[in-house]
Amino acid sequence: MSADILAAGPESSELLAALHAKAFDGGEVWDAAAFEALLAGPGMDAVIAREGEAPLGFILMRTIADEAEMLTLAVLPSARRAGAGRALVKAGLEAAQRRGAANAFLEVSVNNAAAIALYRTTGWNEAGHRTRYYRDGSDALVMSRSL
Ligand SMILES: CC(C)(COP(=O)(O)OP(=O)(O)OC[C@H]1O[C@@H](n2cnc3c(N)ncnc32)[C@H](O)[C@@H]1OP(=O)(O)O)[C@@H](O)C(=O)NCCC(=O)NCCS
Repeated sequence: MSADILAAGPESSELLAALHAKAFDGGEVWDAAAFEALLAGPGMDAVIAREGEAPLGFILMRTIADEAEMLTLAVLPSARRAGAGRALVKAGLEAAQRRGAANAFLEVSVNNAAAIALYRTTGWNEAGHRTRYYRDGSDALVMSRSL
């Protein structure tokens, strides 16, 4: 599969909330209002992956000065292991780089083997550990990479 990659703005908040809910089934809910507020803020880049008209997933980045944070990444369960996640990471980092980011970081649950595997294969390294970071009591890995 080769997904189409498109930049998205606040008008896509409903879509991002729906994709997020399906990708993080049973996890923390980010509703459309939350996405709209986030996307109205400075330094934000949202990028959507689509196949034809069908949205597959998205990434949300925030760049402040020369540092970018990956706020979330989501691919629909039915679209996984086909390269969309990798394509979104690449597009998100390119968007941050265009804003002047030189480094990027993210937090990921130590229990999220799929995401950690994706990040390891896309150039991220472990940079720290946050104990009981998530609401379910799990720890977070901090991962970073230079751009
Ligand atoms: C993590 C996530 C975004 C990966 O998306 P994806 O489109 O399936 O990822 P890709 O197909 O681009 O995978 C790229 C590589 O990552 C690794 N990878 C991805 N999913 C994996 C899994 N379940 N197990 C092991 N490795 C995995 C593999 O190396 C894979 O390459 P390969 O398929 O050639 O072996 C997706 O599983 C998801 O949305 N999960 C729920 C939300 C989430 O956890 N987001 C991240 C929060 S920090």
